[in-house]
Amino acid sequence: MQKIVMEGGHPLSGEVTISGAKNSALPLLFGALLGETACHFHNIPKLRDINTTLALLESLGATVERPTKKNQPYTIEAQRLKHLEAPYDLVKTMRASVLVMGPLLAKYGKARVSLPGGCAIGARPINLHLKAFEQMGAKIHIEGGYVEAEAKKLHGARVHFDTVTVTGTENVMMAAVLAKGETILENAAREPEVIDLANLLNKMGAHIVGAGTDTLTIQGVESLNGATHTVIPDRIEMGTFMIAAAMTGGSILIRNGELSLLEALRVKLEEVGAKIKIEEKGLRVEGPKHVQATDLTTAPFPGFATDFQAQFMAMMTIAHGSSVIVETIFENRFMHAQELVRMGADIKIEGKTAIVKGVKKLSGAPVMASDLRASAALILAGLVADGLTEVHRIYHLDRGYEEIEKKFRKLGARIKRAQVKY
Ligand code: EPU
Repeated sequence: MQKIVMEGGHPLSGEVTISGAKNSALPLLFGALLGETACHFHNIPKLRDINTTLALLESLGATVERPTKKNQPYTIEAQRLKHLEAPYDLVKTMRASVLVMGPLLAKYGKARVSLPGGCAIGARPINLHLKAFEQMGAKIHIEGGYVEAEAKKLHGARVHFDTVTVTGTENVMMAAVLAKGETILENAAREPEVIDLANLLNKMGAHIVGAGTDTLTIQGVESLNGATHTVIPDRIEMGTFMIAAAMTGGSILIRNGELSLLEALRVKLEEVGAKIKIEEKGLRVEGPKHVQATDLTTAPFPGFATDFQAQFMAMMTIAHGSSVIVETIFENRFMHAQELVRMGADIKIEGKTAIVKGVKKLSGAPVMASDLRASAALILAGLVADGLTEVHRIYHLDRGYEEIEKKFRKLGARIKRAQVKY
């Protein structure tokens, strides 16, 4: 087991390059299952969730070629699958494994996927995925902890999602591209990662219109080819570095990434006193001397992303004033709060709401990461705390941030990875 050890109090400065987006790369790799020929992907981040996805694709019988040199793509060839099942051992480590279901059901008429249980941030059911597949003609039943779905040929349907669901939209979109007739997805997720997947599928020969709006119209086609695709930069990683610059009073130049995808975060960072400007080489974020408190409520895109809530809370712990943070997407996504309290933060949780009273200083402490974004939040807190902070259970971090400690070290942070002795 490893931990991150850091000494706080060093303002960040320098440049950072953002990796490919985890939450795009995962559905894109599953999308390759739909092609009759190989798909080639550039800018796939090196992450544990990517390895899990590639292992799952290989267990189905797909051929995966990993790059051996810089700039080489990942190649996925999935013409002849031997198995149509996502087993418990893989799904339990990565919920996004449920994204095999849409492609397998559409192309092979069958899928067996371990039903994901609850996780550290909430119950996270997949009922909306399953309801949509049923509307498209699939027979679904749950046995032995597995969802079994079958349909000779899916047909188009008008699907209205009761709740905006990102992977639900992606899964059903992947099923609809090979269904007979037209599928309309209403109250669909508008996240940039959904657009990235729609772009790949359209390159493969699908007919999807409306990605990025709340209504997707999909005309099913007989078959899809492979395609070559470059994963978009990770907006959550980018936002994490923007918050880091703001909270440490640093100045960071972000070399790539898309500020237009981070409008809600940009507004909040300007409210706390950060300066954000576009320069020739990229985007510069400069932190104020003292961050000011501001309130926020998480919402589906283009609202304030739940995936920034933990990091923003870490910043609010040292702000001037009090902040009210409302989490509307997941019912249990405040596990980082108690760890921040161990570092001296003043946070009270009442249901969906956290009230954070800014304190003058955090003090370094050993803390435990409960999920991916909580890990990032604890690292941010450690960057400004007095003394040493140790973040434990960093396997969460490695699921979704590529070499984050190296990137922070390049920016001047005193941070390293170490083995846990016992
Ligand atoms: N929901 C249902 N039923 C469903 C599907 C979702 O009730 O069938 C509920 C969920 O329980 C949740 C809400 O709808 O309360 C939204 O969940 P959503 O399905 O949108 O989440 P997800 O697709 O499982 C993705 C990201 C998450 C990100 C959320 C919200 C991927 C692989 N994961 O999850 O990313 O927080 O959207 O934006 O794209 C992360 O990267 O750290 C992460 C957790």
